[in-house]
Amino acid sequence: MKIGSISENLEFEKRIAITPEIVKKYLSLGFEISLTENYGSHLGIKDDEYLKQGVKIFKDENEILNNSNLILQLGMLSDEKSSLLKKNQTLIGVLNPYNNKEKLFEIAKKNINLFSLELLPRITRAQSMDILSSQANLAGYKAVIESFANFEKAIPMMMTAAGTVPAAKVLVVGAGVAGLQAIATAKRMGAIVFATDVRSASKEQVESLGGKFLTIESSENMETEGGYAKEASEDFKKKQEELLSETLKKIDIVICTALIPGKKAPLIIKESMINNLQSGSVIYDLAAIQGGNTAFTEVDKIIEKNGVKIMGESNILNKLPISASSLYSKNVFNFVDNLFDKETKKIEIKLEDEIIEKTLIK
Ligand code: NAI
Repeated sequence: MKIGSISENLEFEKRIAITPEIVKKYLSLGFEISLTENYGSHLGIKDDEYLKQGVKIFKDENEILNNSNLILQLGMLSDEKSSLLKKNQTLIGVLNPYNNKEKLFEIAKKNINLFSLELLPRITRAQSMDILSSQANLAGYKAVIESFANFEKAIPMMMTAAGTVPAAKVLVVGAGVAGLQAIATAKRMGAIVFATDVRSASKEQVESLGGKFLTIESSENMETEGGYAKEASEDFKKKQEELLSETLKKIDIVICTALIPGKKAPLIIKESMINNLQSGSVIYDLAAIQGGNTAFTEVDKIIEKNGVKIMGESNILNKLPISASSLYSKNVFNFVDNLFDKETKKIEIKLEDEIIEKTLIK
């Protein structure tokens, strides 16, 4: 079995799917690996590091796509490259199935196996493959670092001979994987942290990290069976708006992470609410690419409204691509390991396996 991976479009994606440290694991399963020349050079990884381990390096990416049984990527291939895929080949990546629906269906119709890792079920067995968790965790951390870097006051409380600097107050909206890491990071740096979520189950997790949970009283069950958030009702949204409007008056930094799978991100921080923040406050919106949690978020821009900076990026993971690639490549390996039949030495599409069934585009 041959594995191939070609360079991503570096303008949008700096992560890689195969790091040198994961190569030996594939080789021990009996795979051969082919990569594009300079595959990891933007991350300081020389071709030599791969060559020493027995990886084949090609200048011509089409040759890799032609000869691989299994193609491992980050994002979806370009139209030109995906037109080269052939029957029985398998492509694994973050294929953005909600936005690329038609394109993916067309390719899948040609008996090409497409696995989109965003669709992994949140079950215990899939945890080691869970790219949403590994990447959201890093994103939550980095969003705090970015917002703190743009905040022009100190974060921890400091008592000095010249007077006391108060601790910064942070509000985290959405306490899933990214939100919980944002809470932990902000706490570690000395901030006072508040958080809210539609899922009441997150209260205990927020509190265990030392955050103060802002409860929005509701009789509705806001959680799906899979543990994700449901879209909030008008009544819930109104109560949330009242609570957050009041809270924002004392907040310095807001980290937005609220998402509903497959839908536009909910608008939570409305125009009128931004005016409740003090001048100099910063909002980092991790939901930017899905439409944003604030009324003013613009992807890859820092917008200023009444002295409040509102920022959000298309891919914050490009700011820590080495850590992100290290975790992503391990997640992908664990997924391939589950897909690979050790007896037949082949990729087996066993639809009775929930992990395989849920991630396969069909
Ligand atoms: P996500 O990235 O889809 O959403 C982020 C957070 O935003 C969620 O906590 C969601 O409840 C919240 N949210 C959505 N709409 C909101 C609104 N209007 N106001 C405030 N908050 C809002 O979620 P993520 O981080 O992927 O986690 C989803 C679930 O999956 C959680 O229950 C988490 O514990 C679970 N999970 C389970 C894993 C497992 O392997 N067992 C691994 C990772 C997550």
